[in-house]
Amino acid sequence: MLKERRIVLGVTGGIAAYKAAELVRELVRGGAKVRVIMTDHACRFITPLTFETLSGNPVATDLFRMTGNFEIGHIALAEFAELIVIAPATANLIGKLSAGIADDLLTTVLLAATAPVLVCPAMNAKMYAHPIVRENRARLVSHGYAVLEAGYGELACRTEGQGRLPDPLEIVEEIESLLAQKDLQGEEILITAGPTQEPFDPVRYITNYSSGKMGYALAVMARRRGASVTLISGPTELTAPRGVEFIPVKTALEMRDAVLDHLEKSTVVIKAAAVADYRPAVCQATKIKKKAGPLTVRLERNPDIVSAIGKKKGRRIIVGFAMESDHLVENARAKLMKKGMDFIVANDVTEAGAGFRADTNIIRILDREGSDERFPLMDKLEVAGVILDRVKMVRSGRRIRDER
Ligand code: PMT
Repeated sequence: MLKERRIVLGVTGGIAAYKAAELVRELVRGGAKVRVIMTDHACRFITPLTFETLSGNPVATDLFRMTGNFEIGHIALAEFAELIVIAPATANLIGKLSAGIADDLLTTVLLAATAPVLVCPAMNAKMYAHPIVRENRARLVSHGYAVLEAGYGELACRTEGQGRLPDPLEIVEEIESLLAQKDLQGEEILITAGPTQEPFDPVRYITNYSSGKMGYALAVMARRRGASVTLISGPTELTAPRGVEFIPVKTALEMRDAVLDHLEKSTVVIKAAAVADYRPAVCQATKIKKKAGPLTVRLERNPDIVSAIGKKKGRRIIVGFAMESDHLVENARAKLMKKGMDFIVANDVTEAGAGFRADTNIIRILDREGSDERFPLMDKLEVAGVILDRVKMVRSGRRIRDER
Protein backbone atom coordinates (compact mmCIF):
# COMPACT_ATOMS: atom_id res chain seq x y z
CA MET A 1 0.00 0.00 0.00
CA LEU A 2 2.97 2.27 0.54
CA LYS A 3 4.44 1.35 -2.82
CA GLU A 4 5.42 4.47 -4.81
CA ARG A 5 3.58 6.74 -2.32
CA ARG A 6 5.34 10.11 -1.91
CA ILE A 7 5.90 10.97 1.72
CA VAL A 8 7.66 14.00 3.20
CA LEU A 9 8.92 13.43 6.73
CA GLY A 10 9.61 16.47 8.90
CA VAL A 11 12.00 15.80 11.78
CA THR A 12 12.17 18.34 14.59
CA GLY A 13 14.61 18.66 17.47
CA GLY A 14 13.81 16.16 20.16
CA ILE A 15 15.62 13.14 21.52
CA ALA A 16 13.08 10.91 19.72
CA ALA A 17 14.57 12.11 16.40
CA TYR A 18 16.58 8.88 16.28
CA LYS A 19 13.30 6.91 16.09
CA ALA A 20 12.46 8.80 12.89
CA ALA A 21 15.35 6.89 11.28
CA GLU A 22 13.52 3.64 11.97
CA LEU A 23 10.36 5.18 10.56
CA VAL A 24 12.16 6.05 7.30
CA ARG A 25 13.51 2.52 7.10
CA GLU A 26 9.98 1.06 7.46
CA LEU A 27 8.52 3.43 4.88
CA VAL A 28 11.27 2.69 2.38
CA ARG A 29 10.89 -1.04 3.06
CA GLY A 30 7.21 -0.66 2.14
CA GLY A 31 8.18 0.93 -1.19
CA ALA A 32 7.45 4.60 -0.35
CA LYS A 33 9.45 7.48 -1.82
CA VAL A 34 10.58 9.47 1.19
CA ARG A 35 11.96 13.02 1.33
CA VAL A 36 13.18 14.24 4.71
CA ILE A 37 13.19 17.80 6.01
CA MET A 38 15.14 18.48 9.22
CA THR A 39 14.99 21.56 11.40
CA ASP A 40 18.22 23.08 12.71
CA HIS A 41 17.52 21.63 16.14
CA ALA A 42 16.90 18.17 14.68
CA CYS A 43 20.39 18.29 13.12
CA ARG A 44 21.80 18.58 16.64
CA PHE A 45 20.31 15.22 17.60
CA ILE A 46 20.95 13.21 14.45
CA THR A 47 22.80 13.92 11.21
CA PRO A 48 21.19 14.51 7.80
CA LEU A 49 23.53 11.80 6.49
CA THR A 50 21.57 9.15 8.42
CA PHE A 51 18.33 10.13 6.69
CA GLU A 52 20.06 10.59 3.32
CA THR A 53 21.42 7.07 3.56
CA LEU A 54 18.13 5.52 4.66
CA SER A 55 15.86 7.42 2.26
CA GLY A 56 18.24 7.40 -0.71
CA ASN A 57 17.40 11.09 -1.25
CA PRO A 58 19.00 14.41 -0.32
CA VAL A 59 17.81 15.84 2.99
CA ALA A 60 16.48 19.39 3.02
CA THR A 61 17.48 21.56 5.95
CA ASP A 62 17.72 25.18 4.86
CA LEU A 63 15.04 27.44 3.41
CA PHE A 64 17.58 29.70 1.73
CA ARG A 65 20.15 27.19 0.53
CA MET A 66 18.86 25.49 -2.62
CA THR A 67 22.38 24.42 -3.70
CA GLY A 68 21.22 24.55 -7.30
CA ASN A 69 18.81 21.71 -6.59
CA PHE A 70 15.41 23.26 -7.18
CA GLU A 71 13.83 19.87 -6.61
CA ILE A 72 14.14 20.35 -2.89
CA GLY A 73 12.78 23.90 -2.77
CA HIS A 74 9.86 24.42 -0.38
CA ILE A 75 7.17 24.63 -3.06
CA ALA A 76 8.52 21.57 -4.86
CA LEU A 77 8.54 19.60 -1.61
CA ALA A 78 5.01 20.72 -0.75
CA GLU A 79 3.84 19.63 -4.20
CA PHE A 80 5.76 16.35 -4.08
CA ALA A 81 4.01 15.27 -0.85
CA GLU A 82 1.01 12.96 -0.93
CA LEU A 83 1.33 12.99 2.84
CA ILE A 84 3.48 14.92 5.29
CA VAL A 85 4.46 13.32 8.58
CA ILE A 86 6.12 15.22 11.40
CA ALA A 87 7.90 12.85 13.76
CA PRO A 88 8.89 13.80 16.32
CA ALA A 89 6.85 16.99 16.54
CA THR A 90 8.09 19.20 19.37
CA ALA A 91 5.94 21.64 21.37
CA ASN A 92 7.75 24.38 19.43
CA LEU A 93 6.73 23.00 16.02
CA ILE A 94 3.14 22.40 17.17
CA GLY A 95 2.97 25.95 18.53
CA LYS A 96 4.36 27.50 15.35
CA LEU A 97 2.12 25.48 13.07
CA SER A 98 -1.01 26.26 15.07
CA ALA A 99 -0.12 29.98 14.90
CA GLY A 100 0.63 29.91 11.17
CA ILE A 101 4.29 30.81 11.62
CA ALA A 102 6.57 29.91 8.72
CA ASP A 103 10.12 30.80 9.74
CA ASP A 104 12.08 27.81 8.46
CA LEU A 105 11.92 25.24 5.68
CA LEU A 106 9.64 22.75 7.48
CA THR A 107 7.03 25.26 8.63
CA THR A 108 7.10 26.93 5.19
CA VAL A 109 6.49 23.61 3.44
CA LEU A 110 3.67 22.87 5.90
CA LEU A 111 1.88 26.12 5.06
CA ALA A 112 2.42 25.67 1.32
CA ALA A 113 1.18 22.05 1.27
CA THR A 114 -2.31 20.80 0.53
CA ALA A 115 -1.54 17.16 1.35
CA PRO A 116 -2.82 15.63 4.59
CA VAL A 117 -0.46 16.09 7.54
CA LEU A 118 0.16 13.64 10.37
CA VAL A 119 1.65 15.17 13.51
CA CYS A 120 3.35 12.79 15.95
CA PRO A 121 4.16 14.72 19.14
CA ALA A 122 7.01 13.76 21.47
CA MET A 123 8.17 15.82 24.42
CA ASN A 124 8.51 15.99 28.18
CA ALA A 125 5.28 14.92 29.96
CA LYS A 126 4.80 18.31 31.66
CA MET A 127 5.18 20.11 28.34
CA TYR A 128 2.74 17.68 26.71
CA ALA A 129 0.19 18.30 29.46
CA HIS A 130 0.66 22.11 29.37
CA PRO A 131 -2.69 23.78 28.59
CA ILE A 132 -1.16 25.85 25.78
CA VAL A 133 0.32 22.78 24.10
CA ARG A 134 -3.03 21.00 24.55
CA GLU A 135 -4.86 23.94 23.00
CA ASN A 136 -2.39 24.04 20.11
CA ARG A 137 -2.89 20.33 19.43
CA ALA A 138 -6.66 20.79 19.51
CA ARG A 139 -6.35 23.72 17.12
CA LEU A 140 -4.41 21.59 14.67
CA VAL A 141 -7.11 18.90 14.85
CA SER A 142 -9.79 21.52 14.22
CA HIS A 143 -7.91 22.53 11.07
CA GLY A 144 -7.93 18.97 9.77
CA TYR A 145 -4.47 17.84 10.86
CA ALA A 146 -4.21 14.24 12.05
CA VAL A 147 -2.55 14.34 15.47
CA LEU A 148 -1.43 11.14 17.18
CA GLU A 149 -1.58 10.87 20.96
CA ALA A 150 1.89 10.59 22.48
CA GLY A 151 2.61 7.30 24.26
CA TYR A 152 3.10 6.71 27.99
CA GLY A 153 6.29 5.42 29.54
CA GLU A 154 9.81 6.33 30.48
CA LEU A 155 10.98 9.59 28.92
CA ALA A 156 14.47 10.72 28.00
CA CYS A 157 14.50 13.28 30.82
CA ARG A 158 14.36 10.32 33.27
CA THR A 159 10.74 10.89 34.15
CA GLU A 160 7.66 8.81 33.41
CA GLY A 161 4.50 10.02 31.78
CA GLN A 162 2.81 10.80 28.49
CA GLY A 163 5.12 12.24 25.88
CA ARG A 164 6.80 9.35 24.08
CA LEU A 165 6.85 9.24 20.31
CA PRO A 166 4.48 6.45 19.23
CA ASP A 167 6.23 3.32 18.00
CA PRO A 168 7.36 3.71 14.34
CA LEU A 169 5.15 0.76 13.31
CA GLU A 170 2.13 2.52 14.82
CA ILE A 171 3.03 5.64 12.86
CA VAL A 172 3.32 3.55 9.67
CA GLU A 173 -0.14 2.09 10.34
CA GLU A 174 -1.53 5.62 10.71
CA ILE A 175 0.16 6.63 7.46
CA GLU A 176 -1.32 3.61 5.66
CA SER A 177 -4.70 4.53 7.06
CA LEU A 178 -4.46 8.17 5.94
CA LEU A 179 -3.37 7.15 2.44
CA ALA A 180 -6.05 4.48 1.97
CA GLN A 181 -9.17 5.06 -0.06
CA LYS A 182 -12.12 5.44 2.33
CA ASP A 183 -14.48 3.22 0.39
CA LEU A 184 -16.03 1.56 3.47
CA GLN A 185 -17.04 4.79 5.17
CA GLY A 186 -20.47 4.40 6.74
CA GLU A 187 -20.09 0.65 7.33
CA GLU A 188 -20.11 -0.60 10.94
CA ILE A 189 -18.11 -3.80 10.77
CA LEU A 190 -18.16 -6.36 13.55
CA ILE A 191 -15.27 -8.82 13.37
CA THR A 192 -14.52 -11.83 15.53
CA ALA A 193 -10.99 -13.17 15.82
CA GLY A 194 -8.79 -15.65 17.62
CA PRO A 195 -9.58 -18.84 19.48
CA THR A 196 -11.90 -19.39 22.41
CA GLN A 197 -10.78 -21.02 25.65
CA GLU A 198 -13.17 -23.46 27.29
CA PRO A 199 -12.06 -24.17 30.89
CA PHE A 200 -12.61 -27.43 32.71
CA ASP A 201 -10.91 -26.31 35.92
CA PRO A 202 -9.14 -23.12 37.06
CA VAL A 203 -5.87 -24.06 35.34
CA ARG A 204 -6.82 -25.97 32.16
CA TYR A 205 -8.87 -25.30 29.08
CA ILE A 206 -9.65 -26.59 25.59
CA THR A 207 -8.60 -24.31 22.74
CA ASN A 208 -7.15 -24.35 19.20
CA TYR A 209 -4.20 -22.89 17.31
CA SER A 210 -5.81 -19.66 16.10
CA SER A 211 -3.44 -16.70 16.56
CA GLY A 212 -6.02 -14.04 15.69
CA LYS A 213 -3.89 -12.75 12.78
CA MET A 214 -6.61 -13.21 10.15
CA GLY A 215 -9.28 -11.40 12.17
CA TYR A 216 -6.93 -8.60 13.28
CA ALA A 217 -5.82 -8.08 9.67
CA LEU A 218 -9.48 -7.65 8.72
CA ALA A 219 -9.94 -5.11 11.52
CA VAL A 220 -6.85 -3.13 10.46
CA MET A 221 -7.87 -3.06 6.79
CA ALA A 222 -11.51 -2.22 7.47
CA ARG A 223 -10.47 0.68 9.69
CA ARG A 224 -7.96 1.90 7.09
CA ARG A 225 -10.74 1.92 4.52
CA GLY A 226 -12.94 4.14 6.68
CA ALA A 227 -15.25 1.65 8.41
CA SER A 228 -16.11 1.84 12.10
CA VAL A 229 -14.78 -1.42 13.47
CA THR A 230 -15.63 -3.51 16.52
CA LEU A 231 -13.20 -6.35 17.12
CA ILE A 232 -14.32 -9.12 19.45
CA SER A 233 -11.32 -11.27 20.16
CA GLY A 234 -10.54 -14.45 22.00
CA PRO A 235 -7.18 -14.56 23.85
CA THR A 236 -4.23 -13.81 21.52
CA GLU A 237 -0.75 -12.36 21.82
CA LEU A 238 -1.57 -9.53 19.42
CA THR A 239 -1.99 -5.87 20.35
CA ALA A 240 -5.43 -4.39 19.77
CA PRO A 241 -5.29 -2.35 16.55
CA ARG A 242 -5.53 1.43 16.93
CA GLY A 243 -8.83 3.09 16.26
CA VAL A 244 -11.08 0.06 16.70
CA GLU A 245 -13.47 -0.77 19.50
CA PHE A 246 -11.81 -3.77 21.11
CA ILE A 247 -13.70 -6.32 23.19
CA PRO A 248 -11.66 -9.15 24.69
CA VAL A 249 -13.47 -12.40 25.54
CA LYS A 250 -12.40 -15.89 26.55
CA THR A 251 -15.15 -18.45 26.00
CA ALA A 252 -17.57 -19.11 23.14
CA LEU A 253 -20.46 -18.10 25.40
CA GLU A 254 -18.77 -14.75 26.14
CA MET A 255 -18.09 -14.27 22.43
CA ARG A 256 -21.73 -15.01 21.59
CA ASP A 257 -22.96 -12.49 24.18
CA ALA A 258 -20.53 -9.81 22.96
CA VAL A 259 -21.55 -10.40 19.32
CA LEU A 260 -25.26 -10.20 20.16
CA ASP A 261 -24.69 -7.04 22.25
CA HIS A 262 -23.03 -5.31 19.29
CA LEU A 263 -25.15 -6.77 16.50
CA GLU A 264 -27.79 -4.07 16.39
CA LYS A 265 -25.55 -1.29 15.04
CA SER A 266 -23.45 -3.48 12.75
CA THR A 267 -23.97 -3.44 8.99
CA VAL A 268 -21.43 -6.19 8.30
CA VAL A 269 -20.39 -9.18 10.45
CA ILE A 270 -17.21 -11.12 9.66
CA LYS A 271 -16.68 -14.29 11.68
CA ALA A 272 -12.98 -15.12 11.47
CA ALA A 273 -12.77 -16.53 15.01
CA ALA A 274 -12.08 -20.19 15.55
CA VAL A 275 -14.84 -20.87 18.06
CA ALA A 276 -14.66 -24.11 20.03
CA ASP A 277 -17.64 -26.26 19.06
CA TYR A 278 -17.66 -27.94 22.48
CA ARG A 279 -17.01 -26.91 26.08
CA PRO A 280 -16.62 -29.01 29.23
CA ALA A 281 -20.12 -29.59 30.65
CA VAL A 282 -18.82 -28.65 34.08
CA CYS A 283 -15.97 -26.32 35.01
CA GLN A 284 -14.61 -27.59 38.35
CA ALA A 285 -14.08 -24.89 40.97
CA THR A 286 -10.74 -26.41 42.05
CA LYS A 287 -7.91 -28.03 40.12
CA ILE A 288 -8.72 -31.61 39.08
CA LYS A 289 -6.27 -33.89 40.88
CA LYS A 290 -4.38 -36.79 39.28
CA LYS A 291 -5.87 -40.22 39.99
CA ALA A 292 -5.10 -43.73 38.80
CA GLY A 293 -6.75 -44.57 35.49
CA PRO A 294 -8.11 -42.40 32.70
CA LEU A 295 -9.98 -39.14 33.18
CA THR A 296 -13.22 -38.52 31.35
CA VAL A 297 -14.40 -34.96 30.72
CA ARG A 298 -17.93 -34.68 29.37
CA LEU A 299 -18.28 -32.02 26.67
CA GLU A 300 -21.40 -30.21 25.55
CA ARG A 301 -22.11 -28.24 22.40
CA ASN A 302 -21.40 -24.53 22.28
CA PRO A 303 -24.02 -22.40 20.54
CA ASP A 304 -23.26 -21.65 16.90
CA ILE A 305 -22.80 -17.88 16.92
CA VAL A 306 -22.96 -17.29 13.20
CA SER A 307 -26.18 -19.29 12.89
CA ALA A 308 -27.68 -17.24 15.72
CA ILE A 309 -26.94 -13.97 13.91
CA GLY A 310 -28.00 -15.49 10.57
CA LYS A 311 -31.51 -15.65 12.04
CA LYS A 312 -31.39 -11.90 12.82
CA LYS A 313 -29.68 -11.06 9.56
CA GLY A 314 -31.90 -8.23 8.36
CA ARG A 315 -30.00 -6.22 5.73
CA ARG A 316 -26.58 -6.84 7.16
CA ILE A 317 -23.90 -8.67 5.25
CA ILE A 318 -22.67 -11.83 6.97
CA VAL A 319 -19.32 -13.33 6.11
CA GLY A 320 -18.22 -16.64 7.59
CA PHE A 321 -15.04 -18.64 7.40
CA ALA A 322 -14.69 -22.38 6.90
CA MET A 323 -11.63 -23.95 8.41
CA GLU A 324 -11.22 -27.38 6.92
CA SER A 325 -8.66 -30.15 6.72
CA ASP A 326 -10.51 -32.15 4.03
CA HIS A 327 -13.32 -31.74 1.47
CA LEU A 328 -12.81 -27.95 1.59
CA VAL A 329 -15.39 -26.91 -0.96
CA GLU A 330 -18.16 -29.37 -0.03
CA ASN A 331 -17.88 -28.56 3.68
CA ALA A 332 -17.60 -24.80 3.10
CA ARG A 333 -20.64 -24.78 0.79
CA ALA A 334 -22.69 -26.71 3.34
CA LYS A 335 -21.79 -24.16 6.07
CA LEU A 336 -22.51 -21.23 3.76
CA MET A 337 -26.03 -22.45 3.01
CA LYS A 338 -26.87 -23.71 6.51
CA LYS A 339 -25.60 -20.70 8.47
CA GLY A 340 -27.24 -17.91 6.47
CA MET A 341 -23.99 -16.26 5.26
CA ASP A 342 -23.72 -14.04 2.18
CA PHE A 343 -20.38 -15.62 1.36
CA ILE A 344 -17.82 -17.85 3.00
CA VAL A 345 -14.05 -17.72 3.05
CA ALA A 346 -12.67 -21.25 2.90
CA ASN A 347 -9.16 -22.12 4.03
CA ASP A 348 -7.52 -25.50 4.32
CA VAL A 349 -5.43 -25.59 7.50
CA THR A 350 -3.31 -28.47 6.20
CA GLU A 351 -2.01 -26.40 3.26
CA ALA A 352 1.43 -24.78 3.77
CA GLY A 353 1.07 -21.02 4.30
CA ALA A 354 -2.68 -21.23 4.95
CA GLY A 355 -4.90 -21.06 8.01
CA PHE A 356 -3.59 -20.92 11.56
CA ARG A 357 -0.71 -18.78 12.83
CA ALA A 358 0.99 -17.97 9.52
CA ASP A 359 1.21 -14.37 8.27
CA THR A 360 -0.24 -15.65 4.99
CA ASN A 361 -3.35 -17.47 3.90
CA ILE A 362 -4.70 -19.24 0.82
CA ILE A 363 -8.44 -18.77 0.41
CA ARG A 364 -11.40 -19.49 -1.82
CA ILE A 365 -14.54 -17.38 -1.67
CA LEU A 366 -17.82 -19.19 -2.25
CA ASP A 367 -21.17 -17.47 -2.49
CA ARG A 368 -24.81 -18.46 -2.45
CA GLU A 369 -25.15 -18.08 -6.22
CA GLY A 370 -22.63 -20.90 -6.70
CA SER A 371 -19.47 -18.96 -7.55
CA ASP A 372 -16.14 -20.26 -6.27
CA GLU A 373 -13.17 -17.89 -6.62
CA ARG A 374 -9.65 -19.12 -5.82
CA PHE A 375 -6.85 -16.85 -4.62
CA PRO A 376 -3.10 -17.48 -4.48
CA LEU A 377 -0.97 -17.37 -1.32
CA MET A 378 -1.18 -13.82 0.04
CA ASP A 379 -0.27 -11.88 3.14
CA LYS A 380 -3.23 -11.88 5.59
CA LEU A 381 -3.58 -8.10 5.14
CA GLU A 382 -3.97 -8.63 1.39
CA VAL A 383 -6.45 -11.44 2.04
CA ALA A 384 -8.38 -9.03 4.25
CA GLY A 385 -8.43 -6.53 1.37
CA VAL A 386 -9.87 -9.15 -1.00
CA ILE A 387 -12.60 -10.08 1.51
CA LEU A 388 -13.53 -6.43 2.05
CA ASP A 389 -13.64 -5.87 -1.73
CA ARG A 390 -16.19 -8.68 -1.85
CA VAL A 391 -18.19 -7.05 0.96
CA LYS A 392 -18.27 -3.88 -1.15
CA MET A 393 -19.47 -5.83 -4.18
CA VAL A 394 -22.32 -7.39 -2.18
CA ARG A 395 -23.23 -3.92 -0.88
CA SER A 396 -23.30 -2.31 -4.33
CA GLY A 397 -25.24 -5.29 -5.76
CA ARG A 398 -27.87 -4.69 -3.07
CA ARG A 399 -28.00 -0.97 -3.81
CA ILE A 400 -28.54 -1.62 -7.51
CA ARG A 401 -31.34 -4.11 -6.71
CA ASP A 402 -32.94 -1.59 -4.29
CA GLU A 403 -32.90 1.14 -6.95
CA ARG A 404 -34.73 -1.03 -9.49
O1 PMT B 1 -6.27 -16.77 13.70
P1 PMT B 1 -5.28 -17.23 12.64
O2 PMT B 1 -4.11 -17.97 13.25
O3 PMT B 1 -4.87 -16.13 11.73
O4 PMT B 1 -6.03 -18.35 11.75
C1 PMT B 1 -7.06 -17.96 10.90
C2 PMT B 1 -8.23 -18.98 10.93
C3 PMT B 1 -7.77 -20.32 10.37
C4 PMT B 1 -8.74 -19.21 12.37
C5 PMT B 1 -9.38 -18.34 10.05
O5 PMT B 1 -8.88 -18.13 8.75
C6 PMT B 1 -10.61 -19.24 10.02
O6 PMT B 1 -10.75 -20.14 9.20
N1 PMT B 1 -11.57 -18.97 10.95
C7 PMT B 1 -12.78 -19.78 11.14
C8 PMT B 1 -12.46 -20.97 12.00
C9 PMT B 1 -13.67 -21.83 12.27
O7 PMT B 1 -14.10 -21.92 13.40
O8 PMT B 1 -14.17 -22.39 11.23
P2 PMT B 1 -15.40 -23.48 11.28
O9 PMT B 1 -15.41 -24.05 9.94
O10 PMT B 1 -15.25 -24.37 12.45
O11 PMT B 1 -16.68 -22.59 11.53
C10 PMT B 1 -17.43 -22.01 10.46
C11 PMT B 1 -17.90 -20.62 10.82
O12 PMT B 1 -18.79 -20.69 11.94
C12 PMT B 1 -16.79 -19.68 11.21
O13 PMT B 1 -17.06 -18.41 10.66
C13 PMT B 1 -16.87 -19.65 12.73
O14 PMT B 1 -16.42 -18.39 13.26
C14 PMT B 1 -18.34 -19.86 12.97
N2 PMT B 1 -18.65 -20.56 14.24
C15 PMT B 1 -18.16 -21.80 14.50
C16 PMT B 1 -18.51 -22.43 15.68
C17 PMT B 1 -19.37 -21.77 16.59
N3 PMT B 1 -19.72 -22.34 17.74
N4 PMT B 1 -19.83 -20.57 16.30
C18 PMT B 1 -19.49 -19.95 15.13
O15 PMT B 1 -19.93 -18.81 14.88
